[in-house]
Amino acid sequence: MSFIDLRSDTVTKPSLEMRRAIFNAEVGDDVFEEDPTVNQLEKLSAELFEKEKALFVSSGTQANLISVLCHCNRGEEYIAGQNAHVYKWEGGGCAVLGGVQPQPIQVEKDGTLHLENIQKHIKPWDVHFAKTKLLALENTMWGKVLPLDYLAKASALANKNHLKMHLDGARVFNAAVALGAPVSTISKYFDTVSFCLSKGLGAPVGSLLCGSAATIEKARHLRKMLGGGMRQAGVLAAAGLYALQNNINRLAEDHINAFHLANELRKIPGLNECLDANTNIVLFRVGPERQQDLLQHLKTHNILALGNEGLVRFVTHLDICESDIDKTIHVIKEYFRNH
Ligand SMILES: Cc1ncc(COP(=O)(O)O)c(C=O)c1O
Repeated sequence: MSFIDLRSDTVTKPSLEMRRAIFNAEVGDDVFEEDPTVNQLEKLSAELFEKEKALFVSSGTQANLISVLCHCNRGEEYIAGQNAHVYKWEGGGCAVLGGVQPQPIQVEKDGTLHLENIQKHIKPWDVHFAKTKLLALENTMWGKVLPLDYLAKASALANKNHLKMHLDGARVFNAAVALGAPVSTISKYFDTVSFCLSKGLGAPVGSLLCGSAATIEKARHLRKMLGGGMRQAGVLAAAGLYALQNNINRLAEDHINAFHLANELRKIPGLNECLDANTNIVLFRVGPERQQDLLQHLKTHNILALGNEGLVRFVTHLDICESDIDKTIHVIKEYFRNH
């Protein structure tokens, strides 16, 4: 049975062309840095982000963990959003595996961390405190694109306070496409940037961490320590390379589909106020009592979405086409006509 799967952009399956690229990949031992396809993927990533080097890792979670461990020693801390993936959704890895303490702070409605709030949480030197070493931002955050002038101000604040800056850019290409700008206009504000191949870009696995040559050398050591050194990883990197070469600009189609969905849902009486749609993510508040009911209604029509705390979430991606969105709109409108 085939589903219209709008739960996440992680559910994409490699296309035939991507599988062909995987099949034809030249490989070597990547722990010896001899895998030509991994090397090519890392080189292209570093070029796109205008950083000296990049490192291919197994997941976004591993990229974020390695980055925090590159910037912070045991007993030090990083500032991140209360809902940021690197704080809330990664099993506490930075604290458990690195002895690095998170300092979570409120995320504003637009996905930013308020600059005054960041400043307030940077700890002065005091024997009682962990040393604040890193500011970690996420872009996109709930699908929201962080404004470039905000990034400039956050970077100035970090510099002034001797903090490093890391970007969890799992969906940073969505942000770049939405801005109509190269991804380097975003990455220039950060010491390290991680991004995922396995979300909107459509590859089955993998992330990259981009940064200075010295940082990536340290990251390579940490990756090995974490059991993330892979051997003939070119079969995976080939999919990532294909994704970077073919699937960036088409993210605009996912944004158009998300906005089309949001615009139609806005026409449902009472839903206008509850809707939030940015890049490829549409969120709407239905309340906890209706949430499960609506998700079940969608499922009986072979449509999958995610619900959390009274919110229903739809994420568009390259396995979703316009007619899938039209069907979803139809099924949701039908639900609200009867409830
Ligand atoms: C913003 C963000 N960062 C990091 C990750 C982690 O990626 P992975 O699932 O590859 O570990 C995710 C995954 O959904 C994410 O949404």
